[in-house]
Amino acid sequence: MLGAEMIEKLKEYGQEHLIQYYDEYSEEQKKNFERQLLELDFSYLDVYEQKMAKRKRENQEETKDCVSVSEDVYEPLLAMKIEEIEKNAAAFDEAGIEALKQYKVGAVLLAGGQGTRLGFDKPKGMFNIGVTKELYIFERIISNLLEVVKKTECPVPLFIMTSEINDADTRSFFKEKNYFGYDEKYVFFFVQSMAPSVSYDGKFYMAAKDQISLSPNGNGGWFSSMVKSGLLAKIEAMGIEWLNVFSVDNVLQKIADPRFVGATILSGHPSSAKVVRKASPDERVGVMCKKNGKPSIVEYYELTDTMMNEKDSEGEPAYNYGVILNYMFRVKELIAINGNTMTTHMVEKKIPYIDENGVQVSPQEPNGYKFETLILDMINMLDDCLVYEVDRKREFAPVKNKEGVDSIDTARELLQYNGVEI
Ligand code: UTP
Repeated sequence: MLGAEMIEKLKEYGQEHLIQYYDEYSEEQKKNFERQLLELDFSYLDVYEQKMAKRKRENQEETKDCVSVSEDVYEPLLAMKIEEIEKNAAAFDEAGIEALKQYKVGAVLLAGGQGTRLGFDKPKGMFNIGVTKELYIFERIISNLLEVVKKTECPVPLFIMTSEINDADTRSFFKEKNYFGYDEKYVFFFVQSMAPSVSYDGKFYMAAKDQISLSPNGNGGWFSSMVKSGLLAKIEAMGIEWLNVFSVDNVLQKIADPRFVGATILSGHPSSAKVVRKASPDERVGVMCKKNGKPSIVEYYELTDTMMNEKDSEGEPAYNYGVILNYMFRVKELIAINGNTMTTHMVEKKIPYIDENGVQVSPQEPNGYKFETLILDMINMLDDCLVYEVDRKREFAPVKNKEGVDSIDTARELLQYNGVEI
């Protein structure tokens, strides 16, 4: 039985449509749905209200022709450039290899996303990027990791974040493929949390008549999800001091790259980020900077014209290094910031749903918002970050879209350019 209190709450939040089909449910469905309602985090609607109010204010300012003054102070954050890295390569390699040999570095694969832009209905890592042979994205990641293992003769503990949606598929795929030759004892899965999604007018979406639509809550919660899964004890027991976190979709991703590991450790900073020189000043990537004195990533849509044209102390474009989702974090600092509130972002996405007539709709265009926390916000929670430049042709081939920019075709071209047989 739906309690009066819950019905009142649904009314108060304008979410009564959620119980539109309740009377049709079996007893078991009713129980299950009541549990979903109890677990539903209504505070996401407050986030929605706040963001919408902010957007409205900004629009009004724009139409009134006033310039909204951001209180945030942005400054350039100098990158360690490829030439400098090459000069110090021997020292960096040595420090990195030593740390890897002592199992001080773990790798964290973020594979909980839904890859909606790619439109592949399995975990993105199961996508076959091969042309003349099978070559799965997960396989590429493991073979890149194995290159390091060959050098150090020590497996790198690999933590894989999945979501409730793709966990079973991911685990069974790895099993079926015999972990692509990786030592299974060093692979640990953990599952991230879920969040509801809303329509443009702030109504929670239903995924089925008896199911509230939930999706992974972004990649920002990776460390807290690791802690929740009890993996911190494992990290501490293994003596892991650093975590190299990376995305699933870059098929040229270098993981636990000894040079990057060494440069990070020797820098003394608690975090580091691999970056690539922007392809053009208006490229749609988040760029490294300092915000209010702390390292940060400014999104491409937040870059003003002045910032786009600004030069750094070396006379180069000041905001010129885009992040590629390959970061290192020192575990000590991660523990210290764990539990700090992270910003919840509202991200426009295509969200499949059941409409008011009970019809399943798979939208072709974005139709609402998902709520996500983002790993890039963690950088701003730490005191310093080594910005480490890599050659984009060698290390950046993201598979985001079906076609066009950052697509299957561009990734295949880059794999071939790097001599990978596909
Ligand atoms: P993206 O921001 O590209 O999101 O993720 P996505 O869900 O994979 O793809 P789209 O936007 O729906 O097309 C960047 C990285 O963060 C991981 C992804 O798996 C990818 O490695 N991620 C994203 C998570 O692990 N969890 C999430 O909730 C979101």
